Amino acid sequence: MSAPSADPVARAFAADSVGQDVRVRGWVQRSRSSGGILFLHLRDRTGTVQVTGKRDVLGAATFDAAEHVQVEGVVEVEGTVADDPRAPGGRELRARAIRVVDAGLPFPIFQEQTEEFRLDKRHLVIRSEEHVATFRIKAELLRALRQFLDAEEVLEVTPPILTGNPAEGGAEAFTIDYFGRPGYLSQSAQLYLEAMLAPHERVYALTPSFRAEKSRTPRHLTEYQHLEVELAWTDLEGLIAFIERMVPFVLHAVAERRGPELRQLGRRPEELFSVAAPFPRLSYAAAVERLAGQGFPVRWGSDLGTAEERALTLESSVPLFVTYFPRELKAFYMQRSPDDPRTVQAADLLAPEGYGEMVGASCRETNLAFLEERVRAIGANPEEYEWYFDLRRHGNVPHAGFGLGIERILRWMLRREHIRETTPFPRTPSRHTP
Ligand code: 4AD
Ligand code: MG
Repeated sequence: MSAPSADPVARAFAADSVGQDVRVRGWVQRSRSSGGILFLHLRDRTGTVQVTGKRDVLGAATFDAAEHVQVEGVVEVEGTVADDPRAPGGRELRARAIRVVDAGLPFPIFQEQTEEFRLDKRHLVIRSEEHVATFRIKAELLRALRQFLDAEEVLEVTPPILTGNPAEGGAEAFTIDYFGRPGYLSQSAQLYLEAMLAPHERVYALTPSFRAEKSRTPRHLTEYQHLEVELAWTDLEGLIAFIERMVPFVLHAVAERRGPELRQLGRRPEELFSVAAPFPRLSYAAAVERLAGQGFPVRWGSDLGTAEERALTLESSVPLFVTYFPRELKAFYMQRSPDDPRTVQAADLLAPEGYGEMVGASCRETNLAFLEERVRAIGANPEEYEWYFDLRRHGNVPHAGFGLGIERILRWMLRREHIRETTPFPRTPSRHTP
């Protein structure tokens, strides 16, 4: 195998590099040869270059070996950077030596294959330009979120994924056999974040969450990345204000740092720059009224599904908060509204252009009797939640928090048709491999 030193393609091809001797290595994107000249397009993590190699310079054996490298095979090239107006980028690398690191077998991925085949070969498909850009943007989004949370003095903590009680109600929890006892894959870190509030006051976790939802929709995954924030001494207004600082911050950071990738995926960075808070708000009651007026078969108490959420923001280019839902539609831990106990102090943030819910936020019930009553009302076993009830017995303070679905916000940021395009190895009801 090769020596550890090589120049990243971007540095080897910097503006002043013409005439320089460089050594690059990377994966072959395409190649052709004619009349004793070989053309290779090489890709590394920093860019792509055109390499030309002549049989009389390289020698017959090296030339033949390089000629047989397949798409996604790997070579290391030493040569000189030269001007060439015909090459992409106006420059090329004239090879003096080519070493084959891995010739590779014929690469099985082509544009016109079926979606199912491409999902079966996802481990190879993720080398596509589209996926490379997508996952660099996703990394930037996560970095920007952490940067924001750090500046807001929110502490990152590490809650468990294996749990003994479901956080969001049992129906959509993946159950596991935990050495003969029932266990669940985490649906949400929230209950653990609430436990960590007493010593830290402001905490967050970025963990996978699992939902055993059989529904095949373009916005549900069975495993997704979940950013959850929990803040002591915060009410719904404080929580909404926090989210209104966070969302524009991360959109602007990604637009600033990943402009080329956004443009490559058909998104103009200016569109993300233009998203500014405050976001419009609509109470659940008003949302139902509006939807009924548009002919949706909904009345007070109806859940807002994909079609309803879509209709609420289809015409809008900024996110929308929907607030004060009926408590029966929401999780047991949400706090009653003071002036209407039929509703809870919650806000869902819907993405623009019909992309649907991306944040679920609420104040947490602090009254232990109400909390126990809600656990019984959803048919759960209060014994499983004893440890959680303890939090209301020792140092109970007003607090609120939210969960942001990373793939949900990214789906909107990149305007992807299906949420699976925002994660390298999507988990859906019909697929957990590769
Ligand atoms: O609204 P959810 O269910 O809220 C909670 O889990 C709270 N305990 C969070 C909290 O307050 N700490 O989920 C939060 C977000 C949703 O708004 C959505 O963005 C995302 O998680 N989400 C999903 N993303 C992809 N696939 C799924 N199946 C998702 N289910 C929820
Ligand atoms: Mg929700």
